[in-house]
Amino acid sequence: MTIALGSDHGGFALKQAMIAHLQECGVAFKDFGVYCNESADYPEIAVLVAEAVARGEYEKGVLFCGTGIGVSIAANKVSGIRAANCHDVFSAKMAREHNDANILTMGERVIGPGLAALILDTWLQTEFIGGRHARRVDKMMAYEQGRQS
Ligand code: RB5
Repeated sequence: MTIALGSDHGGFALKQAMIAHLQECGVAFKDFGVYCNESADYPEIAVLVAEAVARGEYEKGVLFCGTGIGVSIAANKVSGIRAANCHDVFSAKMAREHNDANILTMGERVIGPGLAALILDTWLQTEFIGGRHARRVDKMMAYEQGRQS
């Protein structure tokens, strides 16, 4: 699995730390930028990553900004995306098991790289459990599809 990564300037350092972590773990990734900490508008990179995930080019994406909130809101505007902003391991696990989140977002100004790496590992390693949760996810996706027609 290759995962898509992206950040604005506010999440750049955390993205770089997670890149080092993924390299240590042997997890393949594509970095959509930004590539330095100059000011950048988070919707641009969030939509770029979210569209690549929605097209099926990447199974999962991870986005970073100052809080993780802006990139989460922006990514969730893309049809087919379920982005979850998680700053604890339990939420990361639930975001996969119950919500089948296909994008994880985190904020560099909220948590440090040690916790972020644990959250990332948990999120990447946890499977969607389906069942009644599939029905609920399907309802969200059906609403999204109906809204677009
Ligand atoms: C940038 O200053 C900051 O607003 C952004 O990184 C993010 O936290 C927005 O939600």
